[in-house]
Amino acid sequence: MGWKSLDDMDLKSKRVLVRVDINVPMENGVVTDDTRIRRLLPTIETILNAGGTPILLAHFGRPKGQVVPEMSLGQLVPALEAAFDRPVTFCADCRGPAAIAAADALPDGAILLLENTRFYPGEEKNDATFAAEMAAVGDIYCNDAFSAAHRAHASTEGIACTLPACAGRLMEAELKALEAALGKPERPVVAVVGGAKVSTKLDLLGNLVEKVDHLVIGGGMANTFLAAEGYDVGKSLCEHDMTGTAQKIMAQARAAGCEIVLPTDIVVAREFKAGAANETVSIDACPADAMILDAGPETVERIGSVLENAKTLIWNGPLGAFEIAPFDTATNSAAGIAAERTASGHLISVAGGGDTVAALNKAGAAESFTYISTAGGAFLEWMEGKTLPGVAALGA
Ligand code: 3PG
Repeated sequence: MGWKSLDDMDLKSKRVLVRVDINVPMENGVVTDDTRIRRLLPTIETILNAGGTPILLAHFGRPKGQVVPEMSLGQLVPALEAAFDRPVTFCADCRGPAAIAAADALPDGAILLLENTRFYPGEEKNDATFAAEMAAVGDIYCNDAFSAAHRAHASTEGIACTLPACAGRLMEAELKALEAALGKPERPVVAVVGGAKVSTKLDLLGNLVEKVDHLVIGGGMANTFLAAEGYDVGKSLCEHDMTGTAQKIMAQARAAGCEIVLPTDIVVAREFKAGAANETVSIDACPADAMILDAGPETVERIGSVLENAKTLIWNGPLGAFEIAPFDTATNSAAGIAAERTASGHLISVAGGGDTVAALNKAGAAESFTYISTAGGAFLEWMEGKTLPGVAALGA
């Protein structure tokens, strides 16, 4: 690993500009999931314990270079103070005299939160002058925002060239977990990929078939693969224009020695709603007026046996319509097996991206996974095999 960690830096009496991702969901001014905030605690504590001052740089929402009061980071101060159990001072700028004065006035043991970096157009343009202005507020740059590392922005990429730079604890944990899952994994490796559309995960599927031993495809995107194999999928969500692409991915998998696991039986219904009347049929018997909402028991058993033999699992996306029972059965069963094998020390399991964490939480399995990433888009880009600019800037 080419990057430096906080352990490699002399933090005493230093102002550490920590790029964090506190782009958290909110409803009526209240944070509804503070996971991303809580996961920053090890970095904050490391800096404070070493006698340094954490100064947080972050974006919130997509204000597109304008000051949008509803996207001010000031509203997150109560959630940060609760999670860190320390006072957090807010400064309504992320650069310039006000930010420097706020850093100067900070009492020992306190944390400074700077305003939304995306209020300036220079952020998304990765403008060098803007990056230097932010850098002037600190002595050391620490990137703890893996989930924003797919953006080549001034606070995630440009600034790393202007100050001594290192990875924070959360960034370190993410990189180590991902390396264990796809870098040099213990084999057999299984990837579970679900979600609605093949078109949004083309690069990801193409990269995975080259790297994993078994690729379990579920959710809406499995229907496109089934249609590509000539099955009638009735009224199911299906990208019929992507069947040629699905065939190419299947051919690529065959050439690479990767087994693609698709449903062999399906749970179908006429309505997309919780408790809708449903039936389980073989994959060649989907009624013309029905839609596939989950994988059937035979498929679940097959997925279970693949997981029973696996040493490493990487999971992105639910296997069925996990939001509505009983169509959450395949997701819950597979998640349960993965959780059990992880807890007994037989499996390294890493999950992330979009609905995945919600689905694993709902299945009661997330706690037992080896690692749950805080990232959405960055996790997907990493699964696609792309270089993440924020990680590359650390010298990784
Ligand atoms: C996220 O929430 O996934 C990150 O904060 C990135 O946000 P963005 O997609 O607006 O760049």
